[in-house]
Amino acid sequence: MLRSISDLDDIQYYGKKVLVRVDFNVTVSDGAVTEDYRIRSAIPTIEYLVKRGAKVILASHLGRPTLRDNNNSLAPVAIRLKEILNRKVDFVQDCIGTQVNSKIEKLDLGNILLLENLRYYAEEQNNDPEFSKSISSLADIYVNDAFSTSHRKHSSTYGAVRNFDIRLAGFSLKKEIEYLSMIRYNPRKPFTLVVGGSKIKDKIGALENLLPKADKLLVGGGAAYTFLKAKGFNIGNSLFDEEHFDWVKNALSSYGEKILLPVDHVVSSEENSYSTVTGDIPNGMSGFDIGIETSRIYSSEIGGNGFGTIFWNGPMGMFEVGQFANGTMNVARSMALAFWRGAMTLVGGGDTIAALKKSGVSESEVTHLSTGGGATLRFLAGDKMPGIEALEQVN
Ligand code: 3PG
Repeated sequence: MLRSISDLDDIQYYGKKVLVRVDFNVTVSDGAVTEDYRIRSAIPTIEYLVKRGAKVILASHLGRPTLRDNNNSLAPVAIRLKEILNRKVDFVQDCIGTQVNSKIEKLDLGNILLLENLRYYAEEQNNDPEFSKSISSLADIYVNDAFSTSHRKHSSTYGAVRNFDIRLAGFSLKKEIEYLSMIRYNPRKPFTLVVGGSKIKDKIGALENLLPKADKLLVGGGAAYTFLKAKGFNIGNSLFDEEHFDWVKNALSSYGEKILLPVDHVVSSEENSYSTVTGDIPNGMSGFDIGIETSRIYSSEIGGNGFGTIFWNGPMGMFEVGQFANGTMNVARSMALAFWRGAMTLVGGGDTIAALKKSGVSESEVTHLSTGGGATLRFLAGDKMPGIEALEQVN
């Protein structure tokens, strides 16, 4: 059984050291956090614990460092967290050891301490038992509020967790599980999937689970060209995923009637020149965005969903580049319209969240914005999630 932080009586937090595994793997540029959605997602859990007199110890990774380097320090995150909470946040330049222990000893009720990047120790990702012990010795209670890292079997998400008698899900983790389980098992109908991005491989598991339940799958982004080739279209020099071509052909033969593919494309053969073509993509050209007619069709499918569910993962094109951004921007705005009209809208994946932001659609115009990229797709695929499993009480 999974227990969440609100299942414990308030008194049990009073004066206790609570280790919260958060995912503060955010974008940092020139020493400042530039995208803080993951930090803000952890705020309800942090405030809940602070109000109950816990001594809150926050642990996270940032990036994939192979050595201790300033570019991956969590120090800028401590500054941003302090601004958001409007209260003192202490930071320590390590995540285990004497310096950390002495900081923890000095914590008072309701104080917050952010530890330095867990991945400065290779032992974290190796799920090393000794390192796990060091992590679990830091606190009395363990909380996981890092859904986006819960597909990783690391010390702080797995190895250290079972050493705690009390291990709980934070509010963000709980909310992610609730929304994504709804999509996985029982989406409100009609159920529309909007899938883009370039890598088909990452999405296969989720699509295999969701396609039987979906009413429509709208495909865009680099993934679409492999589908189009399977339908006999010429795709020119566009992205083609030979490795998963058979899977795509099978998906089309089983679910072809549900799958919508782009009918026109914004193509380019050289820098700064682009045009729109309908149907086949000429040799020497590559598709970089869905065309205006496809945008119109997809927008009307999304906006016309009614009171069902829409899950969007992956941009429709290379939206970072102005001339290839329209398809993704139109999908983002149609998602907002669908939300206002009563659909349950869920958006996942780092790129998709960036696209939403660029389109001017606000977070409050989406029912649920998943913090996870890989984790969201793994959960939807029905894969094991070590970070969630480790929280489950065996007795
Ligand atoms: C993510 O950004 O998806 C999570 O923080 C996990 O990071 P990782 O893929 O480096 O483990």
